[in-house]
Amino acid sequence: MARGTALIRLALFGHPVSRSLSPRIHQLFAGQTGLAVEYTARESTPDTLSDQLAALAGEGGRGCNITVPLKNSACALAHRLSARARQSGAVNTLRLENGDEWFGDNTDGIGLVRDITRNLGKTLSGQRIALIGAGGAAAGILFDILISRPARVVMSNRTLDKAIHLAQRFANIGPVEVFSEGQLSKSGPFDLVLNATSMGHQGGLPAMTETMFAPGAVCYDLNYGTAHEVLDRWCVSRGIVSHGGLGMLVEQAAESFQLWTGHAPETASVIDSLSTTASTARN
Ligand code: ATR
Repeated sequence: MARGTALIRLALFGHPVSRSLSPRIHQLFAGQTGLAVEYTARESTPDTLSDQLAALAGEGGRGCNITVPLKNSACALAHRLSARARQSGAVNTLRLENGDEWFGDNTDGIGLVRDITRNLGKTLSGQRIALIGAGGAAAGILFDILISRPARVVMSNRTLDKAIHLAQRFANIGPVEVFSEGQLSKSGPFDLVLNATSMGHQGGLPAMTETMFAPGAVCYDLNYGTAHEVLDRWCVSRGIVSHGGLGMLVEQAAESFQLWTGHAPETASVIDSLSTTASTARN
């Protein structure tokens, strides 16, 4: 029940956004806090984003989420950036300040770390981590992984150059070793293997082998729903603990909600309520 305070107008920009779970997540958060929130998913392109942001500001909007393929464009449009957004070159959350200035942040990495540490009860400090993928999803989480002080981070990617460049971009935060897919699959063992590729959306498996996993290791897939199923089956049939990225989705949303409203919502019930209906949509 809303407290009768002013409507907080929020939006999601990206393409496609019609199947996004974010509007539902933010309505669940609003329900908990008693705030009146309108959160609308709006189709957008790099060419239209600037005008759409101006329109949201004109409507009295307080902020928005940005999803694929607009996170880099949003970073370029922001007037001020958090350290993690500047480092990753990607923004998933914008907050309107002083009427017409956008503060850009990236809550994806915080969302991942919170899901792993708070919800799954696993520490990242001192852990040996393999990160597969070097696209936007990997760039969005590297800052928060590295500041968690892991023992080791090894990244691989189909296109090796992208992994090399990403590791170089984050070298001031912490060391990231880059291996070819073949090298990585023969290395380890790792305590945590992160899948940041989009292969699950095509029913594909990232380049990993059973021997990469230390006893008790966890495989965390940034994908969720049906996009996580093939990897989940691969893990389960080998006795490897497997998690999809639904918790990360909810946790990154909670951090964004807090940035806009000052309220930190409770996430466990939201993850539970979505886990039966999660779609393949990202963000
Ligand atoms: P984007 O970078 O476009 O935002 P992403 O989901 O973060 O999207 O990145 C896609 C990731 O999945 C990349 O690491 C990509 O590898 P490339 O950099 O070589 O393209 C990886 N990926 C997608 N399809 C793949 C496939 N068929 N085989 C191996 N890796 C794949």
